[in-house]
Amino acid sequence: MNRIALSGIKPTGTPHIGNYLGMIKPALALVENYQTYYFIADYHALTTTHDRKTLNHQVYEIAATLLALGLDAERVVFYRQSDIPEIFELTWILNCFTSKGLLNRAHAYKAIVDENIKEGKNPDDSVNAGLFNYPVLMAADILLFGTHVVPVGQDQKQHVEIARDIAIAINSNYGQILTVPEPLIQATVMTIPGLDGRKMSKNYQNTIPVFADPKLVRKQVMRIVTDSKRPEDPKDPEACNVFAIYKYFASPASMEARRNQYRQGGLAYSAIKQELCELLEDHFATRRTTYRSLMNDPDQIDRVLRRGAEKARAAATPLMEKLRRKIGIRR
Ligand code: TRP
Repeated sequence: MNRIALSGIKPTGTPHIGNYLGMIKPALALVENYQTYYFIADYHALTTTHDRKTLNHQVYEIAATLLALGLDAERVVFYRQSDIPEIFELTWILNCFTSKGLLNRAHAYKAIVDENIKEGKNPDDSVNAGLFNYPVLMAADILLFGTHVVPVGQDQKQHVEIARDIAIAINSNYGQILTVPEPLIQATVMTIPGLDGRKMSKNYQNTIPVFADPKLVRKQVMRIVTDSKRPEDPKDPEACNVFAIYKYFASPASMEARRNQYRQGGLAYSAIKQELCELLEDHFATRRTTYRSLMNDPDQIDRVLRRGAEKARAAATPLMEKLRRKIGIRR
């Protein structure tokens, strides 16, 4: 229980049930086994979101979402990145131990460069230096707290590896000072399908938002793509996009019953969709009320985050003082 798990979430859009099942729910469960830090990576969002209203709204949206979904700010250290100046000081130190080539090879940056080259543009077209240095800021998020494990999806694994490389570089120069973190890969992140069967992602516009109005949720569920089998035809539940979401919300008993109906025939897609709507409403109705009342009272969110930031800074200060001495910035 003394091991530290740390997880950051970048506020970049309305959370959907793919985010909830793949990332938020497992991250919230870590509190049972780890000392947990959970923060809003607002300055990471600034690398891509340059509209003040959007950025500000998304920060509160994600904070309210996490609190409504059960993040217990008494047990989890819950804060926003921008409230912790030590993260940015550490970022600079880490930058001075990060080879530029390592960042050149980072997937997110490389993908943009490759795309630019393909389109005949300058390789660095529309790449700001914040985007290029994104992995270093993320390494600071992680290393500042002596983090042991970082729960991430496959897409963030390389970032944790970069944090490891930087920590090892500093340790080999100054002696053991930074904890070298491990990624904790959550396999389910990849497998929650959206309405069209591809991974649920706002990029594909195939999502079901967590706290949308029941009417909109219903509209989205009805749009889930199925084949054209008739109700009486036998179907394979494991090949059905509706069942793929349904199984995360149904009780084991009803899941078994539905599975058999799929196989034997006699189940209409409209019926399972209807049941999915009801399950989603059961699951999220109360939480949606909490979410809405938090969104109507941003002061309350600010208070929670400020208290979290105090705890986080108290935890970070000793390491920063030690590090400043180790590197010779202080005596
Ligand atoms: N880059 C992560 C993402 O896009 C968010 C993030 C920022 C993060 N800092 C972190 C995740 C530190 C884990 C640990 O999802």
